[in-house]
Amino acid sequence: MMKLTARCKYKSGKKVCKTVLQHFDAQYSKELGEQWHSARDVLLNPHSWQYGVLLNRFSDLTNLKQGLTALGYRSLLPQVYPESQTHTAHFPLQCYIHRDPVHLPKQVHHPGWLKQYFLLNAASVLPVLTLDVKEGENVLDLCAAPGGKSLAILQMTTPGFCHCNEVDKHRYNWLVKTLESYVPATLQHLLSVTHLDGRSIGSERPGAYDKVLVDAPCSNDRSWLYTPDTHRLKERAQLPVLQKELLCSALTAVRPGGVVVYSTCTMSCAENQLVVEAVLASYPGVELLDLTQEFIDLLSDHFCFARLHLPVGQLVIPKKGKTWGPMYVSLLKRLY
Ligand SMILES: C[S@@+](CC[C@H](N)C(=O)[O-])C[C@H]1O[C@@H](n2cnc3c(N)ncnc32)[C@H](O)[C@@H]1O
Repeated sequence: MMKLTARCKYKSGKKVCKTVLQHFDAQYSKELGEQWHSARDVLLNPHSWQYGVLLNRFSDLTNLKQGLTALGYRSLLPQVYPESQTHTAHFPLQCYIHRDPVHLPKQVHHPGWLKQYFLLNAASVLPVLTLDVKEGENVLDLCAAPGGKSLAILQMTTPGFCHCNEVDKHRYNWLVKTLESYVPATLQHLLSVTHLDGRSIGSERPGAYDKVLVDAPCSNDRSWLYTPDTHRLKERAQLPVLQKELLCSALTAVRPGGVVVYSTCTMSCAENQLVVEAVLASYPGVELLDLTQEFIDLLSDHFCFARLHLPVGQLVIPKKGKTWGPMYVSLLKRLY
């Protein structure tokens, strides 16, 4: 058995970019009110950040779960599925979390061996759980690198095929490596990995997919706070244009009756609710679906769901003790 050790991840030294912080203060105190203060406290204290461990069902997990339990990890989700789903090949997502800000070391790729776990912000599983791909369904992950959500999709079921796309060449290579290190050769034929501009996939493959995930490029709040690149703040205003185009492309790529999940890791209303609202207003035959209360209740023990002034989709915001997120998710159905 490999020896499992968990340690505090954050090395001090990263500095908060004051300009970005001022910008966030102005925007988020308006959009989120009091809720911004608790999110802000977490974002400014990386020592408090928690890390999730997504297990790889394709790898040898002998003793790993016991090792995690011994270290104080517990499962984010119940590991039993309702009876109604047991007839399909649907696997409970095995994501382990710890109440303290500890993390496991990253595993190194060895040819011929599959990595046992992928480290992620546990709120990243929310869009994948919402998409809820079933056995045999054809799925597109439009903005896929480095591949965490593609992997999570493959953990839950065996799709008909899974098209993972990434526009950036460097990140595309990273995506290819991720899929190689976690998915067995026997399932690689289900995968197609491309580096296309996601905005063109809808018109190239209209109606080809049952489900599409748009985990959109966004102003990643956690990372931007620690990046001294204020030029990005100017680009921030342009992101909703790209996000709307990607979401429209996804809606064209999905078949009538199919669903699209739009997600980001920012709290910005302009990149979340306003994008979805604008697309709903301009794209005919699309309906916004609510995440069920049962689903939200299931996750509320671990995630803090924000109260949104504009209640379109759901937003997980970091809070002391529940430091996951930010993660915005909304679910759209193409009616015809
Ligand atoms: C939030 S990240 C995706 C993270 C990924 N889903 C995961 O869970 O590992 C957004 C990605 O979209 C890519 N991207 C940006 N513009 C794109 C476009 N026009 N078409 C496809 N991907 C794009 C970015 O390079 C980035 O890798």
